[in-house]
Amino acid sequence: MSDTLSAPKGVPEYLPPESGAWLAVREALTRPAVLAGYGYIELPIFEDTALYVRGVGESTDVVSKEMYTFTDRGDRSLTLRPEGTAGVMRSVIEHRLDRGQLPVKLWYTGPFFRAERPQHGRYRQLQQFGVEAIGSDDPALDAEVVTLADEGYRALGLTGYRLELTSLGCRECRPPYRETLVAFLEGLDLDEATRERARINPLRVLDDKRPEVIAQLADAPLMLDHLCEACAEHFAAVRRLLDEHGTRYVVNPRMVRGLDYYTRTTFEFVHDGLGAQSGIGGGGRYDGLMADLGGQELSGIGFGLGLDRTYLACQAEGLQVGPPTALDVYVVPLGAAGRTAAPALVAQLRRAGLRTDQVFGERGLKGAMKSADRSGAPAVVVLGERDLEAGVAQVKTMATGEQVAVSLTELVTHLTQQHQTKESLS
Ligand code: HAM
Repeated sequence: MSDTLSAPKGVPEYLPPESGAWLAVREALTRPAVLAGYGYIELPIFEDTALYVRGVGESTDVVSKEMYTFTDRGDRSLTLRPEGTAGVMRSVIEHRLDRGQLPVKLWYTGPFFRAERPQHGRYRQLQQFGVEAIGSDDPALDAEVVTLADEGYRALGLTGYRLELTSLGCRECRPPYRETLVAFLEGLDLDEATRERARINPLRVLDDKRPEVIAQLADAPLMLDHLCEACAEHFAAVRRLLDEHGTRYVVNPRMVRGLDYYTRTTFEFVHDGLGAQSGIGGGGRYDGLMADLGGQELSGIGFGLGLDRTYLACQAEGLQVGPPTALDVYVVPLGAAGRTAAPALVAQLRRAGLRTDQVFGERGLKGAMKSADRSGAPAVVVLGERDLEAGVAQVKTMATGEQVAVSLTELVTHLTQQHQTKESLS
């Protein structure tokens, strides 16, 4: 017996009919960005390893522990992209997109790779939809980006999530705050591993989930109380704009993001129905990133929304996403005359925009109707020899079992109208 092959660990697959819902999730999240004039960018799946080391930060888990890095045949170190922002920045700099109209607004979608310990909602190949808007400090751009994500989730009908917001300050106010925090942490009773974490990135200790650590952090200094005047004003303006727009959020001053490039406005969408992997999307400003990667001193803001987790969130809320069936019409040819007539009819229906399939192979009426039933199509057309001779076909409405003879010349119009009526009622 040969060994059966299976997909690598931690890699989700979406198969029909589930994949239809998954595509609908992507479409719903993407649409607000398209309507806001963001341009699509298709990026490489792998890049030079140095891009992520410089862009995402050597001290992050993503870079230090989770990258899929390999050496190619030319002895170059390449890495499967763990996230999208660094790649977008590289491309914008390389192709000088930042020399035209600003802000440059881009969106992307596709797989990303992180060698994490797989669990429900945490995968080694994950899919994101993301946007990046580069070249403007205007708080209105922050509010636009946050709102685009929120509108996508709302279009799906999601309600069980909250938007958490904070400001991580800038190059002026973060270093002195960091020193204050380090001094505070040094006075606590922490284990060696946590001390080590504090040395690498003290902000990350604020996110510790252990009760004994949380208790000690009650009086920890927070970035929000140490913002410089410009950052405080910027954050207040973003909040005002979100309030005016009616985008609901909570301020979470202890938010910790897993990537090093964030400055100022930083946010996360957290869903309550997903257990430990509750972050369905996140993003923020990264005002020094472009210069760090050798480009101009331009600021930027963006987000990455997790498609896998958003899909799980829809399931957790019991939402019907996407078309309930894969087909609108199923054609059942009977006998030689039926089989000859079927392909042309199927082609006509498809051209009219109806999702149509037919029975293949010689099948009796009973077996063919069973296939029709399984297809899920709400309308079935039976092409019988005698009916065809009489210039008609039988159209069966599966929900009611009702069947009518319809003239062949009227068939496409009849089915199109029936479909439109059904759509307008649903
Ligand atoms: P991130 O928070 O690392 O941000 O990832 C964004 C989203 O991707 C998360 O909120 C989550 O929904 C999903 N995600 C991340 N890792 C996994 C995983 N292992 N399994 C399933 N889903 C996952 C970024 O990647 C930034 N590039 C976002 C950004 C764009 N910031 C500014 N611009």
